[in-house]
Amino acid sequence: MVDFEVRPCRQPVPEARRKAILASPGFGRTFTDHMVTLRWSAERGWHDGRVEPYGPFVLDPATSVFHYGQECFEGMKAYRQASGAIGLFRPEENAARFNRSADRMGMPQLPEETFVRALELLVSQDSEWVPDVMGTSLYLRPFMIATQPALGFTLPSDSYLFCVIASPATAAFGAGAVPRPLTVWLSEDYTRAAPGGTGAAKTGGNYAGAFKATQQAVANGCDQVVWLDAAEHTWVEEMGGMNLFFVYAPGGDGKPRIVTPPLTGTLLPGVTRDTLLTLAPQLGFAAEEHRISVGQWRQQCASGELAEVFACGTAAVISPVGLVRSASGDWQIGDRRPGPVTLRLREELLGIQHGQRPDPFSWVHKAC
Ligand code: COI
Repeated sequence: MVDFEVRPCRQPVPEARRKAILASPGFGRTFTDHMVTLRWSAERGWHDGRVEPYGPFVLDPATSVFHYGQECFEGMKAYRQASGAIGLFRPEENAARFNRSADRMGMPQLPEETFVRALELLVSQDSEWVPDVMGTSLYLRPFMIATQPALGFTLPSDSYLFCVIASPATAAFGAGAVPRPLTVWLSEDYTRAAPGGTGAAKTGGNYAGAFKATQQAVANGCDQVVWLDAAEHTWVEEMGGMNLFFVYAPGGDGKPRIVTPPLTGTLLPGVTRDTLLTLAPQLGFAAEEHRISVGQWRQQCASGELAEVFACGTAAVISPVGLVRSASGDWQIGDRRPGPVTLRLREELLGIQHGQRPDPFSWVHKAC
């Protein structure tokens, strides 16, 4: 296992300022006192692990990440537990996905235990930055960038920097007991990912390519973009930073059914997505993966068969979708208010993450 040297920050954020930030953290705006850095080179492998004061990097303008975007990242959270301890939620899943993204981007693998150790060390060092209100957390952003200062394009970089930064956070679309329903924009002009591309990897280019469509969404009064498949522009895929779930009214078995598009290789395999597929049957909901077309979405909302839709992700937690807008017209989901299945799943997920509910799958990993 790689060692990390701890170099504590001499000028931490003053306590009064930290408390003011924690009272209303928002999302991804302020950062804690420390960060983790770890370097990789072809000759030395992973080396020079540090927990050090949060601060800027000095990088050569030719550094390959600036030109070719060779990078990958993760998003996860540390939660204050009912006991006062701090828990990470399924960090080994993020470690595994990070390595799948790294592999797709031609980058080196980081041992899972080193990834988790880096998180534990940062969270312990900056434990006072973990808020204690339900729905708030310390958002952790592990990432890796290509650092070779060279413009050659034949081979990937021969050196990399892994880093973890942390930022106190409210759920991206509000932390209240009843979350605000989203209005979403169906993107028919742009495509997020095609078969064989990088859609299943958590890499910056997927997000950079989404900004233009997001501008269009905002111009149309929407919060987020819904992406369709690249080949037929018919099948619902995901929302960029979030996966989508469709909630069907109870069928013959009396159970509501949650359905999410299958992992075809063009959408991100969300940890929250997997968590909800596992958790739903415990709460008496059927859970399935199968594709749904835009036409079905619209028609099933009209017939009342489709009762609720929600987006989920680490940053978003679970956010209901109330209205869909598209160039060919709008339609609403149910009465546009968060539905009971959405709220029940959200309550249970947050309860487990904060150590206030039983954790039957041992998902919470004690960080300190
Ligand atoms: C996350 O949910 O952690 C993500 O990385 C999504 C990002 C768009 C905030």
